[in-house]
Amino acid sequence: MVGVAVEVEGLTKSFGSQNIWSDVTLTLPPGEISVLLGPSGTGKSVFLKSLVGLLKPERGSIVISDTDIVRCSESRLYDVRKLFGVLFQDGALFGSMDLFDNIAFPLREHTRKTEAEVRRIVLEKMDMVGLQGAERKLPGEISGGMRKRAGLARALVLDPEIILFDEPDSGLDPVRVAYLNQLIVDLNAQIDATFLIVTHDIGTARTVPDNLGLLYRKHLAMFGPREQLLTSQEPVVQQFLNGRREGPIGMSEEKDVAQVEAEMAALQARGGDRHNGVGPKGAVGGDAVPPQLDPSPGLPERRAQRRRQERVARMLHEFDPATADAIRASLPADLLAQADAGVLTPPAGGRHWATDSTQAIGVLPGPRDGR
Ligand SMILES: Nc1ncnc2c1ncn2[C@@H]1O[C@H](COP(=O)(O)OP(=O)(O)OP(=O)(O)O)[C@@H](O)[C@H]1O
Ligand SMILES: [Mg+2]
Repeated sequence: MVGVAVEVEGLTKSFGSQNIWSDVTLTLPPGEISVLLGPSGTGKSVFLKSLVGLLKPERGSIVISDTDIVRCSESRLYDVRKLFGVLFQDGALFGSMDLFDNIAFPLREHTRKTEAEVRRIVLEKMDMVGLQGAERKLPGEISGGMRKRAGLARALVLDPEIILFDEPDSGLDPVRVAYLNQLIVDLNAQIDATFLIVTHDIGTARTVPDNLGLLYRKHLAMFGPREQLLTSQEPVVQQFLNGRREGPIGMSEEKDVAQVEAEMAALQARGGDRHNGVGPKGAVGGDAVPPQLDPSPGLPERRAQRRRQERVARMLHEFDPATADAIRASLPADLLAQADAGVLTPPAGGRHWATDSTQAIGVLPGPRDGR
């Protein structure tokens, strides 16, 4: 099984007169892991629900396996939905059913499998997420981390080709988050499905995905290879990835320009951010792009890894020098040689694989000396 691409173009969603976001354009590359970030209330969950067809955007398209699910028939939508596994924010388990029955639920609802087959599949998925032996537990009797993993097992039983995770790490302690992140990477290596993770966890954003995106001011401010956001000089991207107060994002509304400029100046004077190593002159330091998590020993390599390396090698010319250097550092020698020889053509259909609309949406100018 190979994950399928999800191609989103010009997507706009409102509830009545309240616009949530406009003109969102991106492609989730097949089998790759993407993370979507954004301040609370920017419509990340609305975006995930739109991707599975639970909400209808009023403009734009979402193409999956040659079907635009914004416009297709109900019966076609029903078929496309079967490609998805969704891990909802709270695990969304039925409180009165034990874990076995919860995880078996989609199989019993959507397939005609025998109970023996259901049992085999449920136990296999429980094993994959480390829940063996917990079949008869009720959701109320287990920890939050176990509930997340049970939700994940349930999302896996129909062998999805696209998995959406809505804040899989919320409410977990840092060690459980680390285990969950490893589990996500391991699952990706085992099933090669396309993953999209919404998270507020900076560590997850920095080490798990192939691609990172940021929803901000009702737009997709940036989406692209992880190196693009991790080396970005955009104040809003830096503020988010470093989890700091200084920057354009305020508690409940946007700050005024003078305040942001004063904060950025003070931050520069202090020597910048620890995480991304942005120093007083805006130079990017060594730990800007930490290594991505590898699958656990004994597991196969992620098949998406080579596909992704080839894709980003063909995109090198699109990025500024800091991003291009970080990407180059991640490439194997053969691809690097081809990139240097200039024999790589831009990736097919690649125009949605990196977007930077930070200027178009009026993100405030940041400290750019040293560039
Ligand atoms: N079914 C709905 N009807 C009307 N408004 C809705 C509906 N669902 C979401 N909204 C509104 O859409 C906006 C975005 O909500 P959403 O839950 O997607 O935010 P979010 O980015 O996921 O936030 P958080 O990080 O806090 O989870 C909110 O203002 C919310 O009130
Ligand atoms: Mg949400």
